[in-house]
Amino acid sequence: MPKPMPMPATMPVPISVNLGPDSYDVLVKRGILAEAGRYLNLARRVLIVTDSGVPARYAETLAGQCGESVIVTVPAGEASKSIESFTLLLRTMLRRGFSRKDCVAAVGGGMVGDLAGFAASAYMRGIDFYNIPTTLLSQIDSSFGGKTAVNFEGVKNIVGAFWQPRRVLIDPDLLKTLPPRQISSGLAEAVKMALTCDRELFELLEKEDITVNLDQIIVRSLRIKKSVVEQDEREAGLRRILNFGHTVGHGIESSLEMTDIYHGECVALGMIPMCGEQLRPRVKKVLLKCGLGRPVRYDWEKITEAALHDKKSDGDTVTVTIVSEPGSFELKEMKCLEVIRQARVCLEE
Ligand code: GLY
Repeated sequence: MPKPMPMPATMPVPISVNLGPDSYDVLVKRGILAEAGRYLNLARRVLIVTDSGVPARYAETLAGQCGESVIVTVPAGEASKSIESFTLLLRTMLRRGFSRKDCVAAVGGGMVGDLAGFAASAYMRGIDFYNIPTTLLSQIDSSFGGKTAVNFEGVKNIVGAFWQPRRVLIDPDLLKTLPPRQISSGLAEAVKMALTCDRELFELLEKEDITVNLDQIIVRSLRIKKSVVEQDEREAGLRRILNFGHTVGHGIESSLEMTDIYHGECVALGMIPMCGEQLRPRVKKVLLKCGLGRPVRYDWEKITEAALHDKKSDGDTVTVTIVSEPGSFELKEMKCLEVIRQARVCLEE
């Protein structure tokens, strides 16, 4: 049986995502994992999905608050975002007698959230999904908005579904165990939100101590994402701004696939050429402050190939986001080759 919960000392900051019948709250509070049973319906079967890189006690803390739970720990790394892992989750639920009333909870970063959310979307045509992200990148961006997927035949996120979580719990205390490079990688998404939508957040990143202001950075980023998702849940237009810097960023990431490079590190580099010339020095300074933006070895042939095969591109064109002033953006259709040419000139200078 779930243990009775002591009263929380402070209430979480709620961010309500209004999507009609699929509306839900993202709740931000330090220590909220330990009192998850107060905010999630855990008095049922819960499939807890985590990975080997996440401290095991996080999933165990959640399990201790569940009626009946099973923890599945997949190996850390992008290779686990696969049809095989997806099948493992479905098989586990089937064998454990999960019904439509039961649920899936992700305790991990973006890979775990995408995988667990996709399994929740498919089992019995969709069961409840909770997300408890444990990396800054997933806390700021990927843990909500409904994108779930696995990779297939070497193509990223090509098989998946839009499946909104029932609730998301953001516990910034979970970030204490993350290495600094993981924090930097997550900050790239905050810089993205700031540049496209929030001048004040950009100025905060520019002028203030980032560590001291981390909770504020998370909440402000979440409010931007909420607003974007509410306006364009299925990425028909506006939501593309959340891909700011990603055409070049993904290209760099794919070209360095076998090396130790993080998603946010690549996105940071990808944002620089998409900023107006006058803004670039400020952006580079902020990125440096976040531990980002250091040049890598660019393989422009591979980057071009990846950009042309990116599922966000439409044949040889792609809609990119251009930022000339922090807090404002322009969506522009460009030839992929021109985007890469521009990036090459800017990043090699
Ligand atoms: N991470 C981008 C999006 O949710 O659309």
